[in-house]
Amino acid sequence: MPATLPSTDKTELARSRLIVALDAPNADDARDIVDELSGEVFAFKVGLQLFTAEGPGFVSELVKRGERVFLDLKFHDIPNTTAMAALSAARLGVWMLNFHAAAGREALEAARFAVEETCAKESLEKPLLIGVTLLTSSGGDHLKELGFAGMSKEYVVRMATLTSEAGLDGVVASAYEVAAIREATGRDLLIVTPGIRPIGGTFGDQKRVMTFREAIDAGASYAVVGRPITAEKDRRAAIEALIA
Ligand code: C5P
Repeated sequence: MPATLPSTDKTELARSRLIVALDAPNADDARDIVDELSGEVFAFKVGLQLFTAEGPGFVSELVKRGERVFLDLKFHDIPNTTAMAALSAARLGVWMLNFHAAAGREALEAARFAVEETCAKESLEKPLLIGVTLLTSSGGDHLKELGFAGMSKEYVVRMATLTSEAGLDGVVASAYEVAAIREATGRDLLIVTPGIRPIGGTFGDQKRVMTFREAIDAGASYAVVGRPITAEKDRRAAIEALIA
């Protein structure tokens, strides 16, 4: 790709690959972001902060507005609870939802079976089911704390393989691991990458970061971006700058 893109290409990239994290304390603040960026990005992500404050009503509001919603609650529980939580999310009409891959094969498979069966029975669109490999804020030290002596890439590939074998649609991983995941799984998994930062931007709590363009060039399917866009005064300009 050329070093700088014409603005129509940038618009296209944002509309087809960018997921904006609505990490806001309440629905009013989240609505501000959606009002400003609706139609300019591919999807909005509702995570633990907003969901805990506003509950499923706000997710339904976004779905009714015609927005694609990635429900990022990272389910990790016993198989039955994981499967039933995934079903509740599917019935909200979300486009994508996720689990910690570390919940294990039995929980991931139980969730997939429950969602597939119920969506077919109730004529619902099946959401994409995604396994989180390792948080992009985690590095080797965090894994050592957990008693895993290997490198974070090894752990990510192991979790991605588990997710793939459980038949899920994709994984969340940092852009650094995309190639290794594609090689190890041999499947056309969706790869969703957070930890995106503009050149010269502050990392915050993220450790394994890349720019938007680097992530897409590395083969990521979607990039999730929060603070580098949502914390800016002019969020559309922030998207342009991020993608440039
Ligand atoms: O503000 P920032 O761009 O760091 O936001 C990244 C978003 O992606 C946050 O909502 C965070 O919860 C989420 N996320 C992540 N790493 C993962 C999975 C999700 O950063 N592995």
